[in-house]
Amino acid sequence: MLDASAVEVHPAIRTNASEAIVSGVPWFDQRGIAVSARGAGILKEGERWYLFGEFKQDHGNAFVGFSCYSSTDLVNWRFENVVLPTQPDGRLGPDRVGERPKVLKCPATGEFVMYMHTDDRGYRDPAVGYATSPTINGVYTFHGPLLHNGEIIKKWDMSAFQDDDGAGYLVTHSGNIFRLADDYRSVVEPVVQDMTPGFESPAIFKREGVYYWLGSGLTGWERNDNTYFTAPSLRGPWKPRGHFAPVGSLTWNSQTTFVLPVAGSEGTTFVYMGDRWAHPRQNTAATYVWQPLHFAEDGTMSLPEFRQSWNLDTLTGRWSEARVAGSLVDIRDYPGVRVEGTWTRHTDSDGHTDLRSAEKGASLTIPFTGTRIGFHAVARPDGGFGRVEIRDAGGDLVLHSIVETYCLYSEASLKFLGPELERGDYSLTVTVLGERFFWQAKTATYGSHGDYVSVQKILLVE
Ligand code: DGJ
Repeated sequence: MLDASAVEVHPAIRTNASEAIVSGVPWFDQRGIAVSARGAGILKEGERWYLFGEFKQDHGNAFVGFSCYSSTDLVNWRFENVVLPTQPDGRLGPDRVGERPKVLKCPATGEFVMYMHTDDRGYRDPAVGYATSPTINGVYTFHGPLLHNGEIIKKWDMSAFQDDDGAGYLVTHSGNIFRLADDYRSVVEPVVQDMTPGFESPAIFKREGVYYWLGSGLTGWERNDNTYFTAPSLRGPWKPRGHFAPVGSLTWNSQTTFVLPVAGSEGTTFVYMGDRWAHPRQNTAATYVWQPLHFAEDGTMSLPEFRQSWNLDTLTGRWSEARVAGSLVDIRDYPGVRVEGTWTRHTDSDGHTDLRSAEKGASLTIPFTGTRIGFHAVARPDGGFGRVEIRDAGGDLVLHSIVETYCLYSEASLKFLGPELERGDYSLTVTVLGERFFWQAKTATYGSHGDYVSVQKILLVE
């Protein structure tokens, strides 16, 4: 099992220094390690929010545990533990799949109950499983499949929802809702059945007496335009409401995993939480797309624009615009860049210009003096994976991560933002890995057409 204290943190890294929720970049925990909580959900206990997710690896899909991080501001995350590690055998044993953990606190028992999708590596043995713990941050005990009348629930993508009256519900792909028993350890009743075939990554929340049910289309780890339904009761009638992000944005390049209501003295912000998957580099190159949901008078929900960064006041429950601090310099104008291999200046038909390379091992090294570095890149259908390293003046590694500059359309945005550092001299190196997103699903193949890594602008905080 991972031990947070065993990781040596470079002394230049200042932890708990970020102020905004930034989407589409790796996040770093208190140890300077990428936050790995994919397909996540959040539960608040006391003053802390606990984020549970798939603790991924960078080479394949096998279950290596569910992670737990905690935060008091939803921005700075503290690694707690791998709260459900790989089991010695069984449905979450070696070489199995475990996805989308969601935790509820059972009002009847006080126990924390985690639900998850268990499967084989080919996704042909799906079952909803559950685990319990007396404490929120584990370790959880895995009990195997969740049963309904003694039967396994053979579903994959799933979520869990607790209503205002304390009743617990399991939600699954294809539009199913099941009510949980009072002890949350089994299912007692199907509430909605097969409402919409193929609807994956379900998430349910309630706002002003209306239930919202979000989910994605069925494209493996590839992004698609997610949709939603609303209803006056969990039993329905559920009304299809269409897309909630502009069609073609592919839900701002993400897949729904959860919606977190953050209630304060002045209102409630509903935080859309999505995954920007990056198979097989899901540990470090996948990113989080967390956006404040908008609601019109008639309850229509939307994400009209992509907010790269924004602030959430957790006391008032209000969110506000926030720009990532720093000055932006085009990579072509940045002084002293060291170039290895061939990088070419490229302008695409959308007018985005960058420096890019698909040559394995080619690198750009950007020297800087300051407290924070990041960069913008252009993601395109032929984008691949790049390794990012920050080194100190002595050449020691401060931090490393992987970024992906892949998108089904041409899109320019911040792709990397390092943590705050002690002011000093450093360098940032971006190296082409010669790898790309690829996924062979049951009925289709998804992936990038190239290995291009892009760098467009350098963001520097002095
Ligand atoms: C889509 C699901 O939403 C993910 O959780 C994962 O199971 C992938 N399919 C695997 O293809």
